[in-house]
Amino acid sequence: MNVRIQPSILSADFVNFERDFESISAADGIHVDVMDGHFVPNLTFGAPMVRRMQEITKLPLDVHLMIENPDHWASEYAQIGVFSVTVHFEACSDPVKVAKSIQQHGVRAGISVKPKTALSEVANCLEAFDQLLIMSVEPGFGGQSFIEDSLSKLSKAKELIEHSGKDIWLQVDGGVDENNISSIASAGADTFVAGSAVFKAADRNAQINRLRSLAESAKI
Ligand code: DX5
Ligand code: ZN
Repeated sequence: MNVRIQPSILSADFVNFERDFESISAADGIHVDVMDGHFVPNLTFGAPMVRRMQEITKLPLDVHLMIENPDHWASEYAQIGVFSVTVHFEACSDPVKVAKSIQQHGVRAGISVKPKTALSEVANCLEAFDQLLIMSVEPGFGGQSFIEDSLSKLSKAKELIEHSGKDIWLQVDGGVDENNISSIASAGADTFVAGSAVFKAADRNAQINRLRSLAESAKI
């Protein structure tokens, strides 16, 4: 089982992305949080910034859209040629159509659920997607504590994925750090977003490697 560590740049220096990207070169990808100030009470940046990020790094960009109306906007991000685009189930009118609008650009499509959204709600559309993102904090801000209930949600999500027989990645986002990543990996996650746990570390690449190795050991 592959383990992927994706630092969230919500905890990076917003006027020094190029320097901060270089400081996380050991990562498997960069998690890019797009927030519109409506779907979540915080605002980051839009497609022009993501396009520029794509030009300054070779690491795959994993775009997490915390925005309203992803049915309209998701393909604009996919067109940039990023690695993956994840939309929120709660904001989609037609999740399967959104998945296709992303995948038609050769980009992986992800579906995300907020902590209070039941997995049963996404079960019907899950197979249209390449990855499922379980939010383990209320989306909007970095540095929050991991919601413990997310562990059982991840285990159930893992069962749903196995039942589908498809190679759908199981991603977790929010409050992931060196103290809890082992139990999160044991619950079934394979793709780990970590913002503050990576960016606060004195040696960010060492921290990424440590997180990866803890997750890998827990999975065996
Ligand atoms: C929260 C974002 C996360 C956030 C994670 O809404 O989606 O990606 O940056 O940050 P940490 O790891 O600090 O909880
Ligand atoms: Zn995120």
